Amino acid sequence: MAHRHLPADLVLATGDLAHTPAPATYARFFSLLGGLGLPVYCLSGNHDEGQMLSTLTDGGLCRFETHLHHGGWHFVFLDSTIPGSEGAHFPPERLQELDSLLSGAPDTHTLVCMHHQPVAMGSRWLDTMALDNPDEFFAVIDRHPQIRGILWGHVHQEFTETRNGVQLISTPSTCIQFMPNSSDFAVDMVSPGYRWLLLHPDGRIETGVERLAAIPGTIDQTASGY
Ligand SMILES: [Fe+2]
Repeated sequence: MAHRHLPADLVLATGDLAHTPAPATYARFFSLLGGLGLPVYCLSGNHDEGQMLSTLTDGGLCRFETHLHHGGWHFVFLDSTIPGSEGAHFPPERLQELDSLLSGAPDTHTLVCMHHQPVAMGSRWLDTMALDNPDEFFAVIDRHPQIRGILWGHVHQEFTETRNGVQLISTPSTCIQFMPNSSDFAVDMVSPGYRWLLLHPDGRIETGVERLAAIPGTIDQTASGY
């Protein structure tokens, strides 16, 4: 992370922490991210093994939680994965849990974090993996006006939009980037990056993307799928 963004309060790791899940891979992730000296809240992505990830979470700085109160904000961590599938779905019990968590803190500015996109990104291939029951999800969201933002990973590109006063935000990948608005898989030749967020006491979300100055040679830009 750039020094101007440190010290941060915490890191949100929005899933696909491993490309192929293995204990050694997660140990490496925990070791690298733990080096920041910040709490790292981990979400499971379609490339992860959620049970393995939650079991291996190191109990120290890297954590796997359902929600968190910090700095006057409420962070809700939602598992959008479907075991054995690349796609996303919220079963009724998860939406009920979301509704209960939100009902428990109606006056606290809230950021909902998940792995998959809850809205179409305009990329045909990528949107086959979007949340498949967004109407049910947004029905819950719309009942809780304290929600200020919904944040996700998965799409390897930056995106911001506002829906009913809620900021919809994706973050770029720390690996290859996907070409926005592409019908088929295509790599966008821009550097890896992360998104920073400044959550204000009045509920405003200030955010931006920080990218490396150049694409590292260790990244395989010839990928034909992901
Ligand atoms: Fe993903």
